[in-house]
Amino acid sequence: MKIILVAGARPNFMKIAPLIRALDVTPMQPGLSENNISWKLVHTGQHYDYDMSKIFFQELEIPEPDYFLEVGSGTHAEQTAKVMVQFEKVCLEETPDVVLVVGDVNSTLACSITAKKLNIKVAHVEAGLRSGDMAMPEEVNRIVTDSISDYLFVTERNGLENLENEGKLKEKIFFVGHVMIDNLFYQLNRLNSNTFETTPLKEGLGKYLFLTLHRPSNVDDSKVLKRILDALNEIAEKIPIFFPVHPRTKARMEDLGVDLSQNIKVLNPLGFTEALYLWKDAIAVLTDSGGLQEETTSLGVPCITLRENTERPVTVEVGTNTIVGTDTVKLRETVLNIIDGHYKEGQIPEKWDGKAAERIIQILSNI
Ligand code: UD1
Repeated sequence: MKIILVAGARPNFMKIAPLIRALDVTPMQPGLSENNISWKLVHTGQHYDYDMSKIFFQELEIPEPDYFLEVGSGTHAEQTAKVMVQFEKVCLEETPDVVLVVGDVNSTLACSITAKKLNIKVAHVEAGLRSGDMAMPEEVNRIVTDSISDYLFVTERNGLENLENEGKLKEKIFFVGHVMIDNLFYQLNRLNSNTFETTPLKEGLGKYLFLTLHRPSNVDDSKVLKRILDALNEIAEKIPIFFPVHPRTKARMEDLGVDLSQNIKVLNPLGFTEALYLWKDAIAVLTDSGGLQEETTSLGVPCITLRENTERPVTVEVGTNTIVGTDTVKLRETVLNIIDGHYKEGQIPEKWDGKAAERIIQILSNI
């Protein structure tokens, strides 16, 4: 069987790395697994800056992609269309049996549609998640990708229920756990065994928060962004905040011209290891990312999500996540409670055990 793996944007890279490791357990030759699955890696180039892409390939030990499509940024239609045109050529040349896409970015959507139109089977890793918020571009990507996928690999029970409620056939759905958590545990082991040279950033700092912010709903509207940054400035009077800034957010902050407290330590986007090194010891993570809600849950780090909803409810029901939206009063209150040592204890969700990629490859090789 021949599989094409697709990676396009930063949150995809953490999900692809463990899949490649599982494919290549005892490689008979590079790109051919012991399960007789041969594979090729396509990087669409949706993310292209060194610190949004290449550093992840290096740190997560992802091999050079077989194809780099160099689509770059653009409007949603432009970006999606460019990926489709380029990816169709790859599919025609490689004639894979399965195209495997991960997550919910524009590259996920574009490659799944392209494959399906060529009658190639589509496997979606991280299927079934639903925020119920159609203003989120990722929600559209999730729904369309799931609706045409042949193999739906699900991270949490809620995803299973969503797919069943939408009438997907049970035999297409596989509850396997989460490849992102496979990657996290693997990288945490490497970090703990000192293979990574850490920066002195947090030494002697005491308690601190770790912040990420990049959702269009938070940063594209200048009033919303200003309100959030004002609240963060207030919080920073009590506790320092590390803030690696996504390119989208950087551009919007420059437009806004807002002054940030000295206690907010603004950084360029971080590689995986450095980010993990900082957030794993933070007293809380403040974020609008999807993946960090899950990663914090699996390490028991309190997470405050600056969104009105989550497509990953297990992180709230079982884990350490609290949704505060853009309610800055609730945000401040929750941070103060955490500083005072009052916060729920989370548990690790079912099947988040570091073995999801192995399960997925096993299932695919049995097909
Ligand atoms: C994308 C994903 C989002 C994911 C996020 C993680 C979609 C719809 N969104 O959003 O789900 O959480 O990635 O980062 O696919 N830019 C750079 N360098 C880069 C990439 C982008 O400077 O390497 C800038 C460009 O100005 C671009 C903007 O960032 O216009 C946004 O990039 P884009 O890929 O369109 O969306 P993200 O906001 O990164």
